[in-house]
Amino acid sequence: MSQKIPVILDIDTGSDDAVALITALKAPELEVKWIATTWGNVPLAEATENSLRVLDLARSAGLLAAEIELYAGAERPLARDLHEGRRRRDRYSGLIDGEEVYMHPPILPGRPYTQQAEAQFAPFKYIDYLSSATEPQTIIATGPLTNLAIALSLEPNIVSKIKELIVMGGGYQKANVTPYAEANFWNDPEAVACVLHSGLKPLLVPLDATHEAYLRESEYREIFANSGELGEFCCALLEQRQKLHDLNQPLAEPQAVTLHDVLAVCAAFAPQLLSDCLEVHCQICLSAQANGHLVIDRRENPAEANARFAYHADRAAFVATLTRLFQA
Ligand code: RIB
Repeated sequence: MSQKIPVILDIDTGSDDAVALITALKAPELEVKWIATTWGNVPLAEATENSLRVLDLARSAGLLAAEIELYAGAERPLARDLHEGRRRRDRYSGLIDGEEVYMHPPILPGRPYTQQAEAQFAPFKYIDYLSSATEPQTIIATGPLTNLAIALSLEPNIVSKIKELIVMGGGYQKANVTPYAEANFWNDPEAVACVLHSGLKPLLVPLDATHEAYLRESEYREIFANSGELGEFCCALLEQRQKLHDLNQPLAEPQAVTLHDVLAVCAAFAPQLLSDCLEVHCQICLSAQANGHLVIDRRENPAEANARFAYHADRAAFVATLTRLFQA
């Protein structure tokens, strides 16, 4: 097998982040070097605890050859909350059959974790780790970009040690948290602006792609059928997500579910899952009304590209990739 891709995950562990972390640990093509956690789907402390719970579950399933260090990061956006009209909304949930169902449960099911987060602040870890890295690294960010934006602001030269930045975020014809914005970008648009201006030219895996790459219930149950406790854990999270999709975020089919962050992780070793990945010049809106809305320069002679935007994804290939990973 060719050399493993060294990756750093920056996650706000919620439900699809948890499945994405497990997928990254399962993928033989990837080597997860360390993990950063950030506020986003849930407060930082919950994202950190949830990530440690997932690591513990993965350890029990034999997925961890060695300990993977986890560094807690930002607790809040760079600047958004300083603006009254742009503050966070309530946790996304719905009342289904009399039960409050959360897209991202406050605390994921699972045993009390044994590992503890490292003491260093994740942005400082980025600076130290990348500054001394002997080979450029791949970063996969599936939450707000606050950690990376802080690190880039303090030490812009780390850009030279980042081989690829894959970001789950944004939307061209799709939105979720408001009529105009996707959640990760809405959560910290100033951080998005910082990354877009860094010269990194991130690969954006937006809602346009992740909504095409949905999984049917029959598909995800088959994918995780032979993964024991890990598979049951993933299915329980996807069941919750599926209920909320059916309730008020309909996909192309009922009884289906998005795995936004999982597609971003798979893009690191299977970029062919994404299609129409075009170099674009994009900006992020910071106003109260359009906070977090990503705008793309559509002129015939656009400004210099600062990102690659995946307009589409191959659903069948995504299902086949996950089947290969979890049925192997
Ligand atoms: O909009 C989808 C993104 O928001 C995903 O990363 C999901 O985990 C949530 O953070």
